[in-house]
This record gives sequence, structure tokens and C-alpha cells, in this order.
Amino acid sequence: MAYTLSINGQARQVDVPEDMPLLWVLRDELDMVGTKFGCGAGLCGACTVHLDGNAVRSCQTPVGAVGTARITTIEGIGQTAKGAAVQKAWIEVDAPQCGYCQAGQIMSATALLTSNPKPTRTQITEAMSGNLCRCASYHRIMEAIELAAK
Ligand code: FES
Repeated sequence: MAYTLSINGQARQVDVPEDMPLLWVLRDELDMVGTKFGCGAGLCGACTVHLDGNAVRSCQTPVGAVGTARITTIEGIGQTAKGAAVQKAWIEVDAPQCGYCQAGQIMSATALLTSNPKPTRTQITEAMSGNLCRCASYHRIMEAIELAAK
């Protein structure tokens, strides 16, 4: 099936099966490898992107279900004021360790702060609970989110 997807403000054409996960469309068809494959089962959050500003797991999102939704990936999140603030805070507190999960973490954090600019610690923990980090950099991720919320 031919699709025209809106990705980071640009129209991108792909011709792929409708059940292909958005993750593979981004990585394999469009060479946008910032979005990571972790588990492929909706469990780790490494593949998080935004559809119309909402955090979704691209490994669980068939391209045929995207429709006209605006897709934002880690490559484009810095174009938004909130995304830029989150990325700046991430650098400031040196949040990543190995870095693999961090694109997904940043996407979830940006979605949270867009819908709730001043979240409590409990709200941050809840919103980020689907994003796993095997290096356990959770305390620095919390610090970065709190800094970006200031
Ligand atoms: Fe999608 Fe783990 S790769 S949730």
C-alpha cells in the first residue's frame, strides 16, 4: 500500500504492507534510526514516537492505522519548544548512560510535559513507567524532567 506520512512536518511517501509496524517504516524504509527497537512487544518504550503529540509505541502501531496523524520522532522533537527544553535538560544533567533507551525516554517526557507542564514526582513516575532503562538511569531522567518543567 502507498502511504503519505507526515513526519516531523514533512510529507514522506512509503509503499509498504499496511500491517508493517511504524517502527520498521521509520528505520528500514526511511532510514530514520533514532527511534530504537528494544523488545518489539510494547514492553520497553524504546520505540516511542508521537502521533498528534501523544506518545505511542511504534512497534505496536501498524502503519495502516496512522492515517493523517502527525508523526513526530526523536529527529524532530527538538523543533518543538517543549522538546527542545527537554533535550537541553537531558544534556545538562547528563541523563544517559549507554543511551539506547533515551530517545524513547525523551519522547515520553516531552508528551508528559506538553499535557502536564508541572507534574509531581508521582505523576512523572507514572507517566515514565513504560520506559525501561537497563542502566537504571532513572534518577537522572527524573532530574532532567524536573529541570525541563521549571
Ligand atoms: Fe516497542 Fe519495546 S520496542 S515497546
